[in-house]
Amino acid sequence: MPRGYFITFEGLDGSGKTTQLRRLAATLTEQGHTVVSLRQPGGTALGDRLRSVLLDSRSEAALGTISPIAELTLMFADRAQAIAEIIAPALAAGHIVLCDRFTDSSEAYQGGGRQLGSERILAMHAAVCDDLQPDLTLLLLPPLDASLHRARRRNHRSIQSQGTDENRFERESDEFYSRIYAKYQEIAAREPQRVVSIEGNDSIEEIQRYIHRIVAERIPPAPSAPATSMLEA
Ligand code: TMP
Repeated sequence: MPRGYFITFEGLDGSGKTTQLRRLAATLTEQGHTVVSLRQPGGTALGDRLRSVLLDSRSEAALGTISPIAELTLMFADRAQAIAEIIAPALAAGHIVLCDRFTDSSEAYQGGGRQLGSERILAMHAAVCDDLQPDLTLLLLPPLDASLHRARRRNHRSIQSQGTDENRFERESDEFYSRIYAKYQEIAAREPQRVVSIEGNDSIEEIQRYIHRIVAERIPPAPSAPATSMLEA
């Protein structure tokens, strides 16, 4: 059985990557591929617990300030569990895995945003994730202002309507987000074979068409019998 195909989506909060992932998952499933989708942090029982510790802005009131290294290590604990439980078995079974964020997020947010540097993240990736690399990374980089505005508005709404709070990162400064943006650009320049960077202000539909074209060029057609298995993030 040939290894499946591993696609990651990356970008700032509010970049539209989650919408694009869902649309691509639906299209590939319709075409008869078996698609497994998940998000990081999260996707496993352990990961969902870690997600609430990492993203809820009330965590620090209960737990104290989370140090940048502790934050990075928890992101990798989440990732190790997701690889063991979901990603590696799905790839071994020949499925397509769509992952909303992966190690590039740690490099951009903790390496760039928190200024821990790339080297440490890449070394951790080799040690913890056995250097598992996506076959393709779709990096959505609309202008910084637009992403931030969208992310902050969305979080405000979710606190009001559901009482959920995933706001710990969105409280960060614009400089923090500029460093993340720059680090994403650096990753794309360093790995042009793997990372397709989609910049600018195109509509959701235009970006969707572009993504579907790129993916169609890289993934062989589905085997004749359609099969569906979708792990909800
Ligand atoms: P999202 O699921 O809405 O994209 O939010 C996840 C948040 O976690 C986002 O602010 C980015 C952050 N994050 C990191 O800082 N490092 C990581 O390694 C990952 C996976 C996410």
